[in-house]
Formats: sequence, structure tokens, C-alpha cells
Amino acid sequence: MSVKFLVTGSAGLIGSQVVKDLVKLKHEVYSCYHNQKPTYGIPIQLDLLDHDKIRQTLLEVKPDSIIHLAAATNVDHCETEKEFATRLNVISTKIIAKQAAKQLAFFVYVSTDYVFDGEHKLKKENYVPNPLGFYGKSKLNGEIILNNLASSWCIARTSTPFGIHPKKKSFPLWIKESLESKKEISVLVDQFTSPTYVPNLSKMLIEIATRQITGIIHLSGATRISRYHLAELISDKLNLDKKLLIPTKIDHMNWKAPRPKDSSLDVSLAIEILNEKPQTIQHGLDCFLNELNNIK
Ligand SMILES: NC(=O)c1ccc[n+]([C@@H]2O[C@H](COP(=O)([O-])OP(=O)(O)OC[C@H]3O[C@@H](n4cnc5c(N)ncnc54)[C@H](OP(=O)(O)O)[C@@H]3O)[C@@H](O)[C@H]2O)c1
Repeated sequence: MSVKFLVTGSAGLIGSQVVKDLVKLKHEVYSCYHNQKPTYGIPIQLDLLDHDKIRQTLLEVKPDSIIHLAAATNVDHCETEKEFATRLNVISTKIIAKQAAKQLAFFVYVSTDYVFDGEHKLKKENYVPNPLGFYGKSKLNGEIILNNLASSWCIARTSTPFGIHPKKKSFPLWIKESLESKKEISVLVDQFTSPTYVPNLSKMLIEIATRQITGIIHLSGATRISRYHLAELISDKLNLDKKLLIPTKIDHMNWKAPRPKDSSLDVSLAIEILNEKPQTIQHGLDCFLNELNNIK
């Protein structure tokens, strides 16, 4: 059955895959963007800082389902531009979610592993959030708004998405290109995440939205891995020189915003209830490297 979708952030790393997949599935797709026009779906220019325009757009489109991906995603920028991060990640989310509730549209809010402090590994959905930086705080405040709304919603938290995008260079691609050009690079040995292959995430998000699965769910890859180990895996798969990988530690990084040391997510709920299962890093990387080869 064709569903009318409205997707925000539709030209972003995750959004561009989601709208492409939705169009392929023959859904009616309204692709909202700010600066970068999306390739798939019916494009709608919508600055999410313009609250009246958000309401007006939702009233005009009347979506059955909304996948809200747009956000201020630069973690260090959010730390210094707190008001901007609040307006985009919290207030805009509130306006969309309230309007969605009025129009009885199902709402999927894509959130982040950075709502956690990183003191424990493989957090389940009910683990208590405690963000270290402002980006995580603003995304958590978006979650809290939904928790207080009597409507149909799902909070889908993901971790280190990687995929192919014209502007955003994912971590695995940075590793591949650096090693191929024989460049030494410093890679963190003590930062652990659950890297997520974007096409796998996109299918899980679409399943959540079409089956209207409510509550909080962790949608990430199925493997907890350090940045360094991930870089080693890539060099092994491509037969590149591992000695170019210089192990470094999070305490040596000169970041404006603190990052959790371990933001890996437990995905047992997704494995149990979804048809599209979270992929292991071995599988996700194979698919990613294959996809890169095919676009050469
Ligand atoms: N990337 C990660 O590491 C990560 C990890 C966990 C969770 N997430 C979450 O996943 C979601 C998608 O992330 P992503 O990596 O795909 O994001 P992304 O590539 O950085 O894209 C962000 C999107 O937000 C849109 N946007 C920014 N300001 C806007 C405004 N004022 N009005 C309308 N749209 C605006 C951008 O639109 P234009 O391009 O048109 O300007 C862009 O499409 C986010 O909610 C993020 O918090 C990301």
C-alpha cells in the first residue's frame, strides 16, 4: 500500500538514502530540504527555523507518516552555537511533532547514540541518557518532547552512520582514501560505536514507519567496535598498509565538544521485531565497499 511520506533532511547522509528507497517502493514522497535539493521525491524547500512555514507545509501535504532527520549535526558547532542547536534540534522538532499529532500523522524522530555518556557499552533502549555535549543534549530534548506528546511516534537512535554521499565523507571512506594515498592517519583506539551502514538503516527506518512501530528503538549496526579496529578491518579487506594507522586516544583530541568513549547500542530489540535486521560490521563494510566499486 502506498503511503504519503514527508521526510526532513532529505538530501543529508541518511535522508538521501531514505527518500531514494521510499520512491523505489512506490510511496508518495515529499522531500524537504534547506539548501541542497534532493534527487528523489517531490522537493519542498523548507527552512525548519520558520515555524509558520512548517505548520503550513504539513497542512498542505497532509502526510500519513513523517521521518524527521534534519538537524544541526556538527557536534562541535552545536557546542559553541547552543541557541542555533536548540532552535533546530529542539524547537523545530516540537513544532513538527505537535502538528503531526494534530493531523494524526505517524512521526519517526531519528536520534543519536550521543544521548548517552559512554560509561557503559551496548546500551539498551531503557538505559538512562546523560549526554556529555550540547548536541546530545539538544537531541535528547527533542526526545523528551515526544515522550510528553499523546500521539503515535517512534524514537530511532542510531550510531556512526556510513554510506555514500556527494558531500559527506563517512569514516570508512576517509580511511580507504588515506591509506590508498599512503597517508599516515591518527585513529582512536578508545572510542567505541556501533557503525551503521546507511542502506541498512534506511530499510529499518522505513519498516518502522510503515508498520507504525511505537516507542524507542536502537537502529544501528550489530557490532560494537573501536575506530581503530574498524580502520584495521578496512585495511585488511582492501589489502592496504596498516602501519599507516597511528593509534591515538580520545584525551589527545582537541575537540570543542566532549564525546562519549563508548556509545555502542544494544540492538536486540530491533533484531527481535524487525524483518530488516541490523547488519554486522563485516557485512555492512562488504556492502559499502561493493557499492563504492560499482559507482567507479
Ligand atoms: N551523522 C551521524 O553521525 C549521526 C549519528 C547518530 C544520529 N544522527 C542523526 O541522524 C539524523 C540525520 O543525520 P545525517 O548525518 O543524515 O545529517 P546530515 O547529513 O548532516 O544532514 C542534515 C540535514 O539537516 C538539514 N537541515 C539543516 N538545517 C536545516 C534547516 N534550517 N531547515 C531544514 N533542514 C535543515 C540539511 O538540509 P540541507 O542539506 O538542505 O541544508 C541536511 O539535509 C540527524 O537527526 C542526526 O542527529 C546522525
